[in-house]
Amino acid sequence: GFRYALYATLGATVFFSYSLYRELHPSKRIPQTPTFPNGQPKKTLVVLGTGWGAVSLLQSLDTTMYNVVVISPRNYFLFTPLLTSTPMGTVNLKSIVEPIRAILGRSKGDVKFYEAQAIDVDPAQKKILVRSAVGDKNNNGNESISGDLKLPDHGVKNISYDYLVVSVGAESTTFNIPGVQENAYFMKEVTDAERVRARILDNIEKASFLPVGDTRRKQLLNFLVVGGGPTGVEFAAELQDFVKQDLKKWLPELSKEVKISLVEALPSILNMFDQSLIDYTQTLLKHENIDLKLNTMVKKVTKNSIVASNEGKEVEIPYGLLVWSTGNKPRVLTQKIMSKLEEQTDRRGLLINDNLQLLGAEDSIYALGDCTFHPGFVPTAQVAYQEGRYLAKTLEALFKVEQIKWELDNNQELPTKKIVRLQKELSKHESSIVAFQYSHMGTLAYIGSEKAIADLNIAGSQYKLSGGPLLYWFWKSVYLTMCISLRNRVMVTADWINAYIFGRDSSV
Ligand code: FAD
Ligand code: NAI
Repeated sequence: GFRYALYATLGATVFFSYSLYRELHPSKRIPQTPTFPNGQPKKTLVVLGTGWGAVSLLQSLDTTMYNVVVISPRNYFLFTPLLTSTPMGTVNLKSIVEPIRAILGRSKGDVKFYEAQAIDVDPAQKKILVRSAVGDKNNNGNESISGDLKLPDHGVKNISYDYLVVSVGAESTTFNIPGVQENAYFMKEVTDAERVRARILDNIEKASFLPVGDTRRKQLLNFLVVGGGPTGVEFAAELQDFVKQDLKKWLPELSKEVKISLVEALPSILNMFDQSLIDYTQTLLKHENIDLKLNTMVKKVTKNSIVASNEGKEVEIPYGLLVWSTGNKPRVLTQKIMSKLEEQTDRRGLLINDNLQLLGAEDSIYALGDCTFHPGFVPTAQVAYQEGRYLAKTLEALFKVEQIKWELDNNQELPTKKIVRLQKELSKHESSIVAFQYSHMGTLAYIGSEKAIADLNIAGSQYKLSGGPLLYWFWKSVYLTMCISLRNRVMVTADWINAYIFGRDSSV
């Protein structure tokens, strides 16, 4: 045991020191140029998005091989696995975002970034239309924003590409259920978490202003979460932790009146987990006074209540805050791309082949992450991350293939020996472009009260684990490792220590 602890500490120290060294000694970036020194034209690679898929690609890719342009309405990467910890102040929002300029600053080649959103793609002309998103802080990639009137052409411009990577993620779905968009809060973006935080704290302050027994007070403290997927469960668990560990200290009487309910249409929550882990979580949530409303499908939302069907009966449930987390739907841009290519026959997302090439535009467009649909993959960061890394390797191999082909086509006087060598290299690089293979490491979820569940896949063996505190620490260390920068790791660790010692920050 001691030996393993020593190895782990040594490993962590080396990793930390290396990351620190890289932060303090950034390498000089090679500028973008229209051609390489040998005259070969340098291709333009446009990447849409700054989420899991795009950032994983950008971190792995040798960015000197292409003129890389990144377009996203968000000038930062968001570490979504800890988003549900932020409304209650267990972790600060700033600790789980990483500026895209900092990420791009670590790459070998210069990368251009535009804070804009792609609003259209023309696969035939290899062009995209983008619109500036500067100053629009509610901009989450949904197409409701008008251009910046102060910029030339109202902030709209065309950008040509040789290769395009679409990694625009997805939107929260409402299934077009009436009243959801107008009344519910979501849990997907930074702005969502900020709004939920402000609303919870406001509700608590408003309720404490009203006398005990007042119906309005009761309503304000009724927190309803719809969707028993991992987002809904983790958020409900974090909220209950806050009530039990912090609110109880400040407002002991009021904390007893808080009611958290989790509404799920299916007979159980967390359906991607093993049944034993589902049972464990459901028992824990019930024990922690989270009211589980299973088999309850929401049909309509009004300003103060939801109307749902439960085993054929209609039920009305009042709420003071409604958090909606029923999964994803394709973005407007994704739908536009689908409508342009007849090969795109599924409405759930972009169809791709095994090399992540977009069906109908295989020669120039790749797509990855939540904007795609693949029956074998769940839309997770894990999939998007692995796809990003795979695509970086593929694009590097593709560059080498094209480089050799260019040399062979443009040098008539090459000695035969060199031609043979180049042809050998060419076939080596061509054969290195293989199909993407997803390797599922497992799924983890925090379920509250310092307990977690884990469905792990290690070296082909399955492990179904539940409980705490060991698993809780394992969950924390996995998420720390997954953070994409040293800065994020340091800040998240500091937040956890801070919350543990001083309690969660309850100021807006
Ligand atoms: P995203 O990460 O959503 O990135 C999309 C990017 O595209 C964003 O930068 C966006 O601003 C940008 N964009 C949008 N529209 C446009 C446009 N028109 N033009 C250009 N750019 C655009 N997965 C796990 O594996 N483990 C977890 O623990 C986990 N926890 C999660 C917790 C929460 C609360 C949520 C919401 C999700 C969680 N996920 C988790 C799922 C994971 O976050 C997604 O699967 C992942 O973000 C998908 O990556 P992506 O790159 O496809 O999309
Ligand atoms: P989800 O799709 O996983 O779950 C949504 C839930 O809402 C489902 O259980 C569904 O039955 C329920 N639902 C749908 N319509 C409903 C209605 N009208 N009334 C009541 N319930 C309804 O969505 P979620 O949790 O937002 O996750 C999105 C993706 O992100 C998933 O792929 C998930 O795996 C991933 N994720 C992973 C996490 C982890 O690994 N810890 C954490 C959070 C998200």
